[in-house]
Amino acid sequence: MPGDLAVENVRSLAPYVPGKPIEELERELGITNIIKLASNENPFGPSPLAIAAMQRALSDTWLYPDGSGHVLKQKLAAKLGVGINQITLGNGSNDALVLLAEAFLKPGLEAVYSQYAFAVYPIAVQATGATGIAVPALPPSSNMRLGHDLPAMARAINTRTRVVFIANPNNPTGTWMPAPELEAFIAAVPPHVVVALDEAYFEYIGGLPLQDGIQWLDRYPNLVVFRTFSKAYGLAGVRVGYAVSHPTVADMLNRVRQAFNVSVVALAGAAAALDDPAHVEAAVKVAVAERSRVSQRLTSGGTRVVPSAGNFLLLHAGANAQARFQALLRQGIIVRPVGNYQLPEHLRVTLGTVEQNDRFLRAWEA
Ligand SMILES: Cc1ncc(COP(=O)(O)O)c(C=O)c1O
Repeated sequence: MPGDLAVENVRSLAPYVPGKPIEELERELGITNIIKLASNENPFGPSPLAIAAMQRALSDTWLYPDGSGHVLKQKLAAKLGVGINQITLGNGSNDALVLLAEAFLKPGLEAVYSQYAFAVYPIAVQATGATGIAVPALPPSSNMRLGHDLPAMARAINTRTRVVFIANPNNPTGTWMPAPELEAFIAAVPPHVVVALDEAYFEYIGGLPLQDGIQWLDRYPNLVVFRTFSKAYGLAGVRVGYAVSHPTVADMLNRVRQAFNVSVVALAGAAAALDDPAHVEAAVKVAVAERSRVSQRLTSGGTRVVPSAGNFLLLHAGANAQARFQALLRQGIIVRPVGNYQLPEHLRVTLGTVEQNDRFLRAWEA
C-alpha cells in the first residue's frame, strides 16, 4: 500500500487520540444535552470582544493573514514584558511545539520527557526521526505521583540530548513542580540542551507555588516557554498559541514555520481577547474554585484524585474505568479515558461550569 512508503518513524507513530466530539455522541446515542468534559476547554468560551473581532475579521478572510502576526505579537510582547522578536505564533501551541522539534531534532539526537507527559511530545519527536526518552514518572508513594521526576530527567540528559520537554502543570496528570525545584533543574541543564517549558495551563495556577517561566528567560537563554489561547482564553477552536524564547531560537522556529500558520480570524480573536482580562479571570476563578470543590467531594467519596494545577482532574477509576466512561457517555457526559497514556485505570475530567460539574458528580456517585 502507498502508505507503507512513509518513513519508518512515521509508520510506527501512534496517532494522537482526541476527546470524543459532542456531535459524534449525539449521532451514536441519539441524545441531546451532552456535556463535554474531555478536552480541557473553557466552558465559558471566549470574551465577547474576541467574538466581535472574529466576526469582523470574517470579511477579511479572502486575504492571507499577516504572516508576521504583528498586532498580536506586539500586544503579547507588551503584556509579557518581552521583545516582539522573542515570540513565535503557532496554530495552537501544539504547532509551536512541533516547530521546536523540527528545528532542533533529527535522527541521532534525543529528546527527554516524562512518562505520562503530554502526548504531543513523543509524536513531535518521533516525526523528526529523533529518539524520545520517556523517563519514569514519580512513584505512587510520592505526593505528586505520576508527575515529572526532575532528578531522573536530569540524569537522562547526555551528549545526544537536544531538547527536554517539561509540562507545568502536565496534561493528563495535572501534576506540577514548585518554582525552586524547576528552576534548579533548568539551571543545571547543560547549554547544548533546549528546555521546552509548556505552560498551557499557566493561568490556572490559583494559589499554587508555580513560577511564570517567562520571568526566567533572561537568565536561561536555552529556555523556551509555550502558552496558548485554547484554555483560559476559550479559543481552542480557532487555534492560536505561541512560544517565547531567546530571539535566536525564535529566528529558527520562524524558519520552519508555515508563513501563514495562524488564520485571519484567529489573529483577530486572540488580539481582542487580550483586551478583556476580566473575562479570563472570571473563568479561571470558577475553575480554580471548582478544582478544590470537585476534588474534595470525589476524595471524600473514596475516589483517588491526582493533585492538579490545571482546569482538569485525573481520577483513579479502577479496573472498570472503561465501563465507567461508557456509563457516563450514556448519561451524555463525555470525559477522557487515558489508556493511550498507559493509565487505563484513570479518567481525566475537565472542570466545567458549576452545573456541569454537579451533573458529573451526581453521575459519578450514582
Ligand atoms: C500540556 C499541553 N500543551 C499543549 C497543548 C496544546 O494546546 P493548543 O495546541 O490548543 O494550544 C495542550 C492541549 O491540550 C496541553 O494540554
